Amino acid sequence: MFKNMENKICIVTGSSSGIGKGVAKAMAQRGAKVIMVSRDKTRGKESFKEISAISNNVEWIPADLCSVESIHKLVLSFKSKYSKLDILFNCAGDKIMKKYYTIDGFDGLFFSNYLGHFLLTNLLFEHLKNATPSKVITISGRGHKPSLTEGNFKSAIDLNDLQGNIHFSYGKYAKQATLAKIMFTYELSRRWKSYDIASTTLCPGLTHTNQGEYFPLPLKILVPLFYIFKETQTIEEGAAHLINLAEKSNNEINGKYFEGGKKGLFEANSSEESYDDSVAKKLWEESKKLLDHQNSSV
Ligand SMILES: NC(=O)c1ccc[n+]([C@@H]2O[C@H](COP(=O)([O-])OP(=O)(O)OC[C@H]3O[C@@H](n4cnc5c(N)ncnc54)[C@H](OP(=O)(O)O)[C@@H]3O)[C@@H](O)[C@H]2O)c1
Repeated sequence: MFKNMENKICIVTGSSSGIGKGVAKAMAQRGAKVIMVSRDKTRGKESFKEISAISNNVEWIPADLCSVESIHKLVLSFKSKYSKLDILFNCAGDKIMKKYYTIDGFDGLFFSNYLGHFLLTNLLFEHLKNATPSKVITISGRGHKPSLTEGNFKSAIDLNDLQGNIHFSYGKYAKQATLAKIMFTYELSRRWKSYDIASTTLCPGLTHTNQGEYFPLPLKILVPLFYIFKETQTIEEGAAHLINLAEKSNNEINGKYFEGGKKGLFEANSSEESYDDSVAKKLWEESKKLLDHQNSSV
């Protein structure tokens, strides 16, 4: 029996595929108003059709989370229809394993995984405030931990080269983008706690999705093998961890990091450096400055 979410309004980024799509489906099954957000028109339309068959309380707003203008348009479109937002699920993320730039000149990996969600979340503050107790649930990953570092990087947040414009390596910057999402979650939990807006993050655990789509050929061949030999969750199982967090009270989740898997979802420790409040604060200020340059103040 699903817990009733009938009065809830939620936004799910990355809802055309993988874990985000699973979350959109599960929230629709629970009766919530679901605003699906994704970029690829064909995949977005198909997913919207599929989830609309479960509930007629679903809407799709196409948006490119790699574009400042598109994020602003998405927020304007949402605000023109709704006066509150109960849950923001930040699920989208690119896995393009090379250096690329967004239309605004940002590093694509950094922006699609982290800065775009930083902007989106901040722009939705008033609406989250109108729905308190409300929640921001952001997917991060175990990959931010030092033991899984490419090379021997001690500190993953490089405030002098946040976007890898001086020296880019995919391993280092994918790890940094994931860590940035965790530090953003913690900083948000401190900044918005008094409003009763909870901010939490999780690694959903290995889940069979489309995330290998952008991998180079050798990895594309390896990923299906990986899925066979490792204990892999279905999309429904991966998404269930986010629903679990959505159903908890704000006190149980605010400022916490969770890890999911076949055995369930458990509160866990993120890397030591992720708890450095002063770096989190600097990351927030640097993120704000980067967006200010685009006349996109938060
Ligand atoms: N799967 C796992 O095992 C696993 C484990 C740990 C963490 N994660 C993380 O979970 C998140 C979701 O991954 P997934 O496995 O569900 O991958 P997925 O199946 O590839 O889904 C990615 C989603 O993100 C959307 N997206 C990507 N870039 C976007 C952009 N610029 N604007 C709008 N939407 C964008 C895609 O939309 P389009 O259809 O429009 O491209 C798609 O809906 C990622 O951050 C990933 O790193 C996954």
